[in-house]
Amino acid sequence: MSQWLEVGNLDDIPRLGSRVVKTGGEEIAIFRTADDRLFALRNACPHKGGPLSEGLVHGERVACPLHNWNIDLESGEAVAPDKGCTRRYEVKLEQGRVLLGGVG
Ligand code: FES
Repeated sequence: MSQWLEVGNLDDIPRLGSRVVKTGGEEIAIFRTADDRLFALRNACPHKGGPLSEGLVHGERVACPLHNWNIDLESGEAVAPDKGCTRRYEVKLEQGRVLLGGVG
């Protein structure tokens, strides 16, 4: 069963940036695109664990701040030619409130 955890408001997350939520021993980065869509990924790059939350969002990708791999926000997969995948989480917006799913 999926549980939803309220983690703040849309306005708490900068456009083209992210906000980190710590829950259940996991650090989860919630990203906001230029057109206000949200995506959530484990805050660790599939390459060497770089903090994706500190990367720059462009389109539906985030560039890892360490070695510049691009990670697809929808799937958590590294964009070719790089290979790897980080865990993704469900996230939704309800009346301006951000809800994170599959946690707890
Ligand atoms: S740790 Fe992210 S690209 Fe190397």
